Amino acid sequence: MRLDKYISHATGLPRDTVKRAIRHKRVSVNGELARLAAQHIAETDRVCLDDDALQLPGPRYLMLHKPAGYVCATEDSEHPIVLDLLRDIDTAGLGIAGRLDIDTTGLVLLSDDGQWLHRVTSPRHQHDKVYRAVLQEAVTPQTVEAFAAGMLLHGEDKLTAPARCIPLPDNGAEVHLREGRYHQVKRMFAACGNHVLALHRVRIGAVLLDDTLAEGASRPLTQEEMESFLP
Ligand code: URA
Repeated sequence: MRLDKYISHATGLPRDTVKRAIRHKRVSVNGELARLAAQHIAETDRVCLDDDALQLPGPRYLMLHKPAGYVCATEDSEHPIVLDLLRDIDTAGLGIAGRLDIDTTGLVLLSDDGQWLHRVTSPRHQHDKVYRAVLQEAVTPQTVEAFAAGMLLHGEDKLTAPARCIPLPDNGAEVHLREGRYHQVKRMFAACGNHVLALHRVRIGAVLLDDTLAEGASRPLTQEEMESFLP
């Protein structure tokens, strides 16, 4: 979409006013001063008017690279929350698709579209979640088999669904899960006599954590990423 059209949609200002704002150097795109009203704006571009980040109206779909030390909650009296990281975004109404522990890093999806959040997280829709773990001990073939077969976790009476555990060098592992039980990756390794030292989520369904996003940074999902969770 053209820059002037984008700003007009996002703010409700008439195109002439928007063009004037561009001429008066009040508009930036990804931190660079905008010069052309006809500049093409991609879904992931960050457009600011007078330093305020703009967003098109309608439901919002975001990915965030969560750092350690933040909780996946919309309020918390003790710890910073992931919404605190979305500094230029109006966070009213935003919900979180699938929680990560406070010390887990990586991909978090957020939206104000409740039905979409439900599609991302509902076990019925079976979206793979992929994690990279660093463990105290190297992964054994028995652990790989236990993940594939399903296991009973402490205090539960239902086997975990078949999961993949792929050993990586330096006591690493890539884990593919279809469920989202409480502390599931840590508890599955603990049930195999190992201990997770660090955990990072790299993918949910078809959506990969954008490797250009620094820890704490976020961006809107592309249309294709958002729609990958729809039927
Ligand atoms: N499994 C865990 O143990 N922790 C997370 O944060 C996510 C999955």
